[in-house]
Amino acid sequence: MLFKIVMHDEKINRLHEMKKKAELGGGQERIEAQHTKGKLTARERLDLLLDSNSFIEIDKYVVHRSNDSDATKYYGDGVITGFGTVNGRQVFVYAYDFTILGGSLGEMAGRKIVKLMDHAIKVGAPLIGILDSGGARIQEGVMSLDGYGDIFFRNTMASGVIPQITASIGPCAGGAVYSPAMTDFVIMVENIGQMFVTGPEVVKEVLSQEVSFEDLGGARTHSTKSGVAHFVAENEYECMDKIKKLISFIPQNNLEVSPVIETQDDPNRLEPDFSKILPENPYEQYDMKQIIKLLVDKGDFLEVHEHFAENILVGFARIDGKTIGIIANQPMYLAGALDINSSTKAARFIRFCDCFNIPIVTLVDTPGYLPGTDQEHNGIIRHGSKLLYAYCEATVPKVTCIIGKAYGGAYIAMGSKNLRADINYAWPTAEIAVLGPEAAITIVHRKDLKNSKNPIEIKKKLAKEYRQKFANPYIAAEKGIIDLVIDPIETRIMIVKALNVLQNKRESRPVRKHGNINL
Ligand code: HXC
Repeated sequence: MLFKIVMHDEKINRLHEMKKKAELGGGQERIEAQHTKGKLTARERLDLLLDSNSFIEIDKYVVHRSNDSDATKYYGDGVITGFGTVNGRQVFVYAYDFTILGGSLGEMAGRKIVKLMDHAIKVGAPLIGILDSGGARIQEGVMSLDGYGDIFFRNTMASGVIPQITASIGPCAGGAVYSPAMTDFVIMVENIGQMFVTGPEVVKEVLSQEVSFEDLGGARTHSTKSGVAHFVAENEYECMDKIKKLISFIPQNNLEVSPVIETQDDPNRLEPDFSKILPENPYEQYDMKQIIKLLVDKGDFLEVHEHFAENILVGFARIDGKTIGIIANQPMYLAGALDINSSTKAARFIRFCDCFNIPIVTLVDTPGYLPGTDQEHNGIIRHGSKLLYAYCEATVPKVTCIIGKAYGGAYIAMGSKNLRADINYAWPTAEIAVLGPEAAITIVHRKDLKNSKNPIEIKKKLAKEYRQKFANPYIAAEKGIIDLVIDPIETRIMIVKALNVLQNKRESRPVRKHGNINL
C-alpha cells in the first residue's frame, strides 16, 4: 500500500514539475529580458485580461517535433492557448510567448492555435489573440508556413460567426500580420506593438530606404495611416481594458444579440442641447461627437478607428441599454466629406454590425464626396462603392437621421431609404439636394453669372433662394423619402422608438453563394 502511495506521489510531483517548467516559458533570463523591454509576459497578459481563476490552459505540454530544428524543446512551443472568462463572458484566447524562440510559429504552435479556433467556432465564443511574435519559425521552414495557412483558413471560417479580436503587443512580423488583418478588431500598444510584412532591414536592402520599426509599422502608423489598427492603447493595462470594453458591447456569436445593460439613462430623455450644438451658419464646423454623446446612454461611445479617416465616426454605444453601431459624418474634418478611407472604414464597420445583429444608427451631415485627382486616381469609385454595398447588404435594423447637409451621392450613401434603411428622420436643419447651393447655381445659372456685372452679389442672392427652395428636408418628406421631420430635442426618444419597433425585423436577400463586394 505504502509503495503504491509513493508511486502516486512521484507521478503527481512529476506533473507539478512539468507545470512549473511550462509556466516559466523560455526561462527566467528571457522573462527578465521581456520585462526590460517594457513588455509583460504572455501569462501576465492573460492574468490581466481574464477573470481570476477562470483560465484553463490546453496543450500546455506540447513541444515542437521538428527533426531538423536545433531549437531547444520548450513546453507550450511558444504559444499559450486556452479558455476563460472576461467579466463572466466565455472567451477563447491565445497568447504568443516571446520568451520561447521569439514567439515564432512552428508546426505545433500552429496546430495549437488551429485547435483553439475550432473550439471557439464550435462553442460560439469570441476569440482573442495576443501577438508578440517573430513570425514563421525559421528552423521549421515550410511547416510553419503550413501552420499560418491553416490559421488563415480558420480566420475566414470564423469571420461573421464569432467576433475575432487581436492585440498587437510586440513585433508581429511576416506571416504574423495577416491573421490579425483577417480579424474584426486590431488593438496596438504604443511603442510596443509593431506590424509589418517586411521589416526595416528588408526595406533598406530592396528599396535603399531607411525607416524605423515604429515609423514602418508602429501603433501610430497603423492607427492613422494604414487603418490596420482599430484601437491604440498607451500601455498593456489600457489595452486589456479596451478589449474588455469592446467585448461588453458585442454578442458571443452571430446567433445571439449583445447583452442588454441597465444603463439608468431615461429612454424618454428630451435633449434641448442638440440644437445648440448645430451652428446657425451651415459653413461653420461643429463636433458630431457631442451630438452622439447626448444621444446615447450616459454619453458612453466606444469609438472605433478614432484616429483614421476622422471625417467619419464609427463606434459602439447603447440606447435604452441595447448596443447600437453608429456611423456619423464628422464636419470637423474635411467638412464631413466622404472619401476613400472614410468609405472603407464605415463599410467594414457596417458589415461587422450586420454579422453580429447590431442595429445601425446613421447621423448625416456631409457636403458630398471629396473631389480631386488624388481621390479619383486612388479609386474613390471602387472604394466609395463599398459603403453603398455594405448598407444595401445589411439586414439589421437601420435608422438614419439627417442633421445637416446630405448632398448628392453622399445623401444616398449615408443610409438612405434606397439602401434599405428602415426609418429615416430629418431635423428641420437638414439640407437634402443634388448639389450644395454654390455648386448648383454655378451650373444652373452659368450664363446669368457670366453676363452679370456683379456676379458675387447675384451668386449670394441665388444661393439664398436655392437654399430656401431646395436645401431643406420638406421636399424629401413630401415624397416619403424621409419618414418624419423631427424636432431635434426629441431625437433620442424617436430613435429609441424606431429601434424598439424594429426589434423583430426580418429581412432576407436572394439566396446566393456570396455577393461580390468591390474589393
Ligand atoms: C526562429 C526566432 C524568430 C524566427 C526571433 N527568433 N524570430 N526564432 N524564427 N522567426 C528568436 C531569436 O533567434 C532569439 O532567440 C529570440 O527569438 C528573440 O529574438 P531577438 O532578435 O533577440 O529579439 P528582438 O531584438 O526583440 O527582435 C525581435 C524581432 C527579430 C524583430 C522579431 O527577432 C526579427 O526580426 N525576427 C525575424 C523576423 C522575421 O523575419 N520572421 C520571418 C518572417 S517570414 P534567442 O535564443 O537568442 O533568445 C514569415 C513568412 C510567413 O513569417 C508568411 C505567411 C503568409
